[in-house]
Order: sequence, then structure tokens, then C-alpha cells
Amino acid sequence: MRHLFTLNHYFITYKWHLLGGIVFVTISVLFSVIPPQYVRESFNAVEEAIRTNADHNTNSVTSETQALILRYGLIIIGAALLKGLFMFLMRQTLIVMSRHIEYDLKNEVYTHYQKLSQRFFRANSTGDLMNRISEDVSRVRMYLGPALMYGINTSILVVVVIQRMIAINPTLTFYTLLPLPILSYLIYRVSHLINRRSERVQAQLSSISTFVQETLSGIRVLKANVQETYLAERYDQEADEYFARNEHLYRINALFGPLMLLLVGLSTIIIIYLGGMEAIAGNITIGNIAEFIMYVNMLTWPVASIGWVTSIVQRAEASMERINVFLDEPPDITNPSDKPFVLEGNIRWDNVTFTYGHTNITALKDVSFSVASGKTLAIIGETGSGKSTVAALQTRLFDPTSGAIYIDGKDLLALNLDAYREQISIVPQDIFLFSDTIANNIAFGVDNAREEDIVDAAKMAGLHENIMAFPKGYQTRLGERGVTLSGGQKQRTALARALIKKPKVLILDDCLSAVDTETEERILRSLRSYTQSITTIIISHRVSSVQHADEILVLKKGQITEQGTHADLMKADGYYSDIYEKQLREEQVV
Ligand SMILES: Nc1ncnc2c1ncn2[C@@H]1O[C@H](COP(=O)(O)OP(=O)(O)OP(=O)(O)O)[C@@H](O)[C@H]1O
Ligand SMILES: [Mg+2]
Repeated sequence: MRHLFTLNHYFITYKWHLLGGIVFVTISVLFSVIPPQYVRESFNAVEEAIRTNADHNTNSVTSETQALILRYGLIIIGAALLKGLFMFLMRQTLIVMSRHIEYDLKNEVYTHYQKLSQRFFRANSTGDLMNRISEDVSRVRMYLGPALMYGINTSILVVVVIQRMIAINPTLTFYTLLPLPILSYLIYRVSHLINRRSERVQAQLSSISTFVQETLSGIRVLKANVQETYLAERYDQEADEYFARNEHLYRINALFGPLMLLLVGLSTIIIIYLGGMEAIAGNITIGNIAEFIMYVNMLTWPVASIGWVTSIVQRAEASMERINVFLDEPPDITNPSDKPFVLEGNIRWDNVTFTYGHTNITALKDVSFSVASGKTLAIIGETGSGKSTVAALQTRLFDPTSGAIYIDGKDLLALNLDAYREQISIVPQDIFLFSDTIANNIAFGVDNAREEDIVDAAKMAGLHENIMAFPKGYQTRLGERGVTLSGGQKQRTALARALIKKPKVLILDDCLSAVDTETEERILRSLRSYTQSITTIIISHRVSSVQHADEILVLKKGQITEQGTHADLMKADGYYSDIYEKQLREEQVV
């Protein structure tokens, strides 16, 4: 229970729900032991009436007996209604409390996820992250809600009922209760098996979902490679497995009900036999036997639920452990300060080396450069040379392994990270657009964007005409149920999203690779009037898009091999002038 105890602070937060729940459970238990007593009284009254009739040799029921039984009947109904009312209130407090805690716990996990760095998200699969926030949290809720509720209910009920039974006849109590612990243990074993088997069913279900989801999103590749029949066969196999596991589960499920009936039946037989003997001996009344049967019936489900509750608690403990592993994960990147500051845009890298933690790939080695506010730096280099890593470090998705990055003369590690990120924009290489309207996708990084700002940003990104060509213009939905943008349109949407923030530092990571050279040049030209006043880092494979930069870096295997203006590098006669010639020739061919 070590992990579940980490939830105890929630019980303090919701103490009134918890206390209210305990009070309501107690009251409902007190009402639930009233009916058996009046059933006993009714039986005894009837027995009494029969005896009087036999004594006087008559065959009538006196109005007194009738009135008595009617009164008992009304009391029984009244007590049952009140018991029901308090059970309703018990659910309203305890189950509602568990829903509140579930909500809080989900938020806690989600908030923590957002603090964690790229490294964490690379190391853990999305499915795993989703599972812990949904499946695992709902298992923990089963402990906080039903398990706790039945636990409290059973403890109070057992004490009250057994105490009443012993008061009537201790020996009879002992024998009738004998089968119940066995029942409890068997239910525990069976629930354990049911849980294990339903987990296997769940696992197969998610395997089918993943399979279907993958084949549907890759439907174009699938059809192009004529894989329909093969995949249909694989689907059949998956479905057969699902069927088999379900059958396995229902076999054990079918055992559950009969098992309970069997053991309850056993208790009833014991009561009737032993109770009958005691009644004949005059130690108890006939009414006591009826009362006993009702008590045993009242105890059956709660006692059986001990086994069920135990297996829920075990599962919840395992789930909470999984959740805690993530919650205890310290964020790599933390915000050291909340002091506001205004970014000027002077950047200086001082001997920065960076190694990706989980792969040990050293992507950057001793990289130093500086860009003054308002200048443009371009980075060019072959694939895998570390260009995107520069962008990642500049936006503090990762921190340098050694060396430092200075912003306006201050170490980036000491700056208010939120304020810093609000004033910079990056257009990443792998663009992500939401299933939402184009307008909302562009306005993503700013609160309450005005419509003209959205249009301005789209114009600057060379996207406005394209958007206006859609029937719904800026309200066109993107994504699964909407329009699919072309690669170049996606890139320009991401560019517009970066520009609407009016950043002081703009980083473009190969963000126009999918548009033709001419369009790219047109966009960069129209951007230039804006980028003149801000610091810009352009990452590209194309010489055409970097040649106007104030300074160009050539990266090779994580190291700077050439550095200077276009003219400098052309004179140097190295990698840069090489690819310049090559790309010039290609363009002429086109
Ligand atoms: N998240 C990551 N985790 C581990 N290794 C990475 C990660 N991202 C990049 N790398 C590795 O770091 C090196 C540099 O990658 P990077 O993405 O910076 O190259 P790039 O110059 O942007 O390449 P491209 O031109 O293809 O975009 C590569 O060897 C790559 O395999
Ligand atoms: Mg890259």
C-alpha cells in the first residue's frame, strides 16, 4: 500500500466528503438491522396467535394481531426506505469524492507531463503516457471510490450484525458464519483471475486498435503495395485471438454467481437445521431463525466483497506505482526565475557541446558563434550535421552538455524561460498542425489574436491567396475531417504561426524546403523588411535561401567548418562553394 498512501493528502482535501460518507454508511447500517428484528417480532406474534387459537380451539385472527403485524410491516418498509436514502447519500459523498480525486490526479499527471522534457517523451511511448493518465488513474479511482465505500460499509455492517447475532445465540452464529471466510477467499481468487483475464482481453483490444489505426492512416501505402489480402488475414488472426481471450474470461465469470449462491445456500441450511434444533429445545424462537437468515443474507455480499475489494486494492497499488514513477520523474528543464525581461536578441554561443542523453550521439562539438540583435545568421550543412540541434538548444528544449548560450549577455539557463519563449519563435522542421481551423492554427501561440493579425501573418508567410481559394477561407478545418494541406502550405501555416507572435528572435528550421525555390525567395524577400529589425536564424539545405544572411555557418558532423559571408565562403572554395555550384547547375536544368 506504499504507493496508494501517496494519495492520502487528497483525503485531507476532501475530508468533509469522507467524514460525511462514514456517517451516512453508519446510519444506513443501523437502519438495515431494523427489518430483521421486526420480522422476528412478526413471526413470534403469528406463533403466539396460533398457540392461542389452539388453546381456545378457535380459528380466527384477532384484530390486535392484525394491527400489530400491519405496524411491523410499516416499520420494515420505513426502515428500508431510510436505509436506501442514506445509501444514496453515502454514494453521493464517497463516490463523488473519488471522482473529484480522479479529476485532480489526472490534472496532476497532465501538468507534470507538460513540465517534462523531450528526453522523457522520446524514452516513453505515447500509448504508455496515455494509459497512465486514463487506465491507471481509473483503477486508482476504483480504490478511492467503490473499494473504500464497500470497505467502510463491510466493517461497520459486520460489527453491528455479528454483535446482534451473538446476542441471540453464539453457537448458531459460529456455525452459520463458518462458510463466509471461505466464500471471501474464493471470491478473491476468482476476482483475481477475472482481472488477469480481462487485462489480457484489454491488451488484445488495444493491439487490434493500433493495428487498425495504423492500416487506416497508412491506407495509401497499403493499397499502393497491394497488401489488402495479407492485412485482412492478419486482422482475422487478431480478431480470433480477441475472441479466444474473451471466451476464457467468460468461463471464469460464469463461475462467480453460482459460487456465491452455493455458499449462501450452505449457511441457510445450517441455520434451518441447527436453528430448528435450538428452537425445539426452546433456546430460541422461530422468529430468531427468520431473523438469522436475514442477517446472513445481509452479510453475504459485504463479506464476499472483501475478496473483491482486496483484488481492486492490489490492482490500484500497481497502477499507482506506475503513475508515481512518472510523477517522480524530475523535469530536466526548469524555469529558474519569474522575473520579467525584455529580449533584445543578442545571441552568443560559447563552446557548446551537446550529447543526446539516451542515444549518446554527440550532435554538436565546441560550437561558438554570435549574432547581434537585428542580424541574420544562416546555418547550412549536410543532413545529420546538427542544424536542428542548434535550434533545439536555442529554444531550450535541451540544455548544453558543456559550454553556454548567452542571451543579451546573460546565461540562458538563468533567464525566465516562459518570458524568453514568449519572445522567440521557431518554425520547426517537423511541423505539427492541429485538427482545427486555419485561423486557430495560425493564432495558436497568442491569446486573443485579432483577425487582421492572423491575415497579416498569413500574408507575410505567402499563404493568404491559398487560404482565400478555400471556400471557407480562414475558417477551413484542417486534419482528419477537413482539408489536407500540401507540404508547402503546411510549412507556410507554421511560418505564419511563428510570425504572429512578433518575435524578437526568429528561427526557421528548413521551413521552406517543400516550396519551390522561386516561391521561397519571394517569401524570404517579403519577410526581409520585418526580419531587418529582429534576430533571425535560417537553417536550410539551399544556398539560395542563406546567401543573403549577414553570416553563414557551415556545419559538418556537429562542428563549424566554414564561417563568413556568402562572398567569404565563395572565396574559401570549400563545401559551401561546392554546393553553390551544384545547386546553381540544378536550377538551370530545371
Ligand atoms: N532527439 C534526438 N535524440 C537522439 N539523437 C538525435 C535526436 N535528434 C537528432 N539526433 C541525432 O543528432 C544528430 C544531428 O541531428 P540533427 O537533427 O541536428 O541534424 P540536421 O542537421 O538537422 O539534419 P537534417 O538536415 O536532416 O534536418 C544526428 O546524428 C541525429 O541522429
Ligand atoms: Mg534538421
